[in-house]
Amino acid sequence: MEGLGLSPIRAIMAGAPPGAIPLGLGEPSWDLPEAGRLALAGAGRDCSYGPNAGLEALRKALADFYDARPEEVMVASGSQGALYSLFQAWLGPGDEVLVPDPGFLSYPILARLAGAQAKAYALGPGGGLDPGLFGLALSTSPNARMAVINHPANPTGAGADPASLLAVARLCEERGIILVSDEVYRELYLGPRPASLRDASAYGIVLSSASKAWGGPGLRVGWALGEPEILAPARLVHNYAVTAASRPAQEAALALIEDSPRVLPQARAGLGRRWESLSRAMEEDFPGGCPRLPAGAFYLLLPLPERETDSLAFCLRARDEAGVILAPGSAFGPGGEAAVRLSYAARAAELREGIARLAPLWRK
Ligand SMILES: Cc1ncc(COP(=O)(O)O)c(C=O)c1O
Repeated sequence: MEGLGLSPIRAIMAGAPPGAIPLGLGEPSWDLPEAGRLALAGAGRDCSYGPNAGLEALRKALADFYDARPEEVMVASGSQGALYSLFQAWLGPGDEVLVPDPGFLSYPILARLAGAQAKAYALGPGGGLDPGLFGLALSTSPNARMAVINHPANPTGAGADPASLLAVARLCEERGIILVSDEVYRELYLGPRPASLRDASAYGIVLSSASKAWGGPGLRVGWALGEPEILAPARLVHNYAVTAASRPAQEAALALIEDSPRVLPQARAGLGRRWESLSRAMEEDFPGGCPRLPAGAFYLLLPLPERETDSLAFCLRARDEAGVILAPGSAFGPGGEAAVRLSYAARAAELREGIARLAPLWRK
């Protein structure tokens, strides 16, 4: 626990001046879709703990969504709850877990909480999964017991093609290490639908949650999909840590999953409006214009302005001088140090105003 503090993103938000524009946090700014709201309004009569493994109807709905068997589904308190449980169940002192750099900041911390060590692997140009670079890190990690991939990725927005996913799955299978594919952003795309690990290989565990495309981060419902033998000990950890995900929240997640044909296109339409607003504002006003559309998620990893080298110091200036919250790239590992993450999950008007406020900092 030594040295464990508030995440740099939360710390920057905590000191934000009134009226600051939130382009830092990675959660939808749109309302919980109607199906979820109705389910929450009708929930509560049966407020028993429910099965530790998750409500049967939810596991079945998820199995249908992913074309899997219900035994292959573990429901958790967010995908974060699934990650925590998998790490606790399968990692211990002396073990290494491969994580992307830059990557979601919880991975190395969850490794530490399990007594293990995170080993970074570099990403390809544009921040996508590169099996060569992944293999290189694996070959120098004799104690690797697990590897995490994330696509579309936080913070780069980059995806992974099926050939790369297959290559990485083969490398992990040959070494006998657990592969965890974090796909929480998979349904948030504006171009072609990003591939899932499940499209490329039967090996590995896939994670997702109701937090992003289904619009319910506060529900804290996520899931892991894959081999029941790998999920079983993680489920036990989850049972002892939190008993089960909240029952009303699982009922809402069930309604959202069942309404996916409506919920997911609506989420993408909302994301499209945000991207329109952001890209137009950047093309008009931002030095260098707008980067190309990422494969998915709602993040742009922007290079720091020339002469800036400290992403945290720059984000503090952006917050205090321009009134815009950004996430420092350094929070995602050394590979993010020269950049900041902008989240375009914010409202369209906030994105326009945010770019107008930020542009002068890049012109200085
Ligand atoms: C890559 C990635 N994985 C997992 C999570 C955890 O999300 P949740 O626990 O809400 O499913 C996040 C949250 O931002 C994330 O960015």
